[in-house]
Amino acid sequence: MRKHFASIGCSLFSIGPARLILTPFALFAVGVVLLLPRSAALADPQTDAERGHQLFDKRCGGCHALDNDKEGPRLRGVYSRKAGTVPSFKYSDALAKSGTTWDEVSLDMWLTDPDKFIADADMDFHLDKADERAAVIAYLKSLSSR
Ligand code: HEC
Repeated sequence: MRKHFASIGCSLFSIGPARLILTPFALFAVGVVLLLPRSAALADPQTDAERGHQLFDKRCGGCHALDNDKEGPRLRGVYSRKAGTVPSFKYSDALAKSGTTWDEVSLDMWLTDPDKFIADADMDFHLDKADERAAVIAYLKSLSSR
């Protein structure tokens, strides 16, 4: 190992000006190669929430709004809210008595299959794709943390 570092050191210092100029670029390139896949692999909450916003409008917007009840209850602040607690909305008994609090896990199960998560709930809809569920949940969460 030590030998290896020494030889890198030598090549940095023992060479002509062209190399001295190129070396920082080479190091930069290595840095980019090492860092890029890592940052791309990490889910970016901001982008997820933006995508979730569009999905929400398209897929949930027919039945839900953020600040008024439609066929489904208003959803602003639903993340970390206890299920079935918007006073103006008439929930199914099943949802109202579920004792669930909405977080990543419960929302994911709900959106995967509402009836399976809470038998006899009234939401006749599900989102099949895990990445779409994650994006919508990130969006709902971002509304709760503001
Ligand atoms: C076909 C209409 C419809 C669609 C589409 C729909 N929902 Fe619903 N949603 C409902 C109804 C109705 C309820 C109330 C269910 C009950 O009382 O059992 C509900 C309840 C909920 C609740 C529980 C809210 C609370 O206050 O406890 C959440 C969370 C929710 N929906 C999220 C979503 C999301 C996110 C989407 C889009 C991915 C979506 N829904 C799409 C009709 C719909």
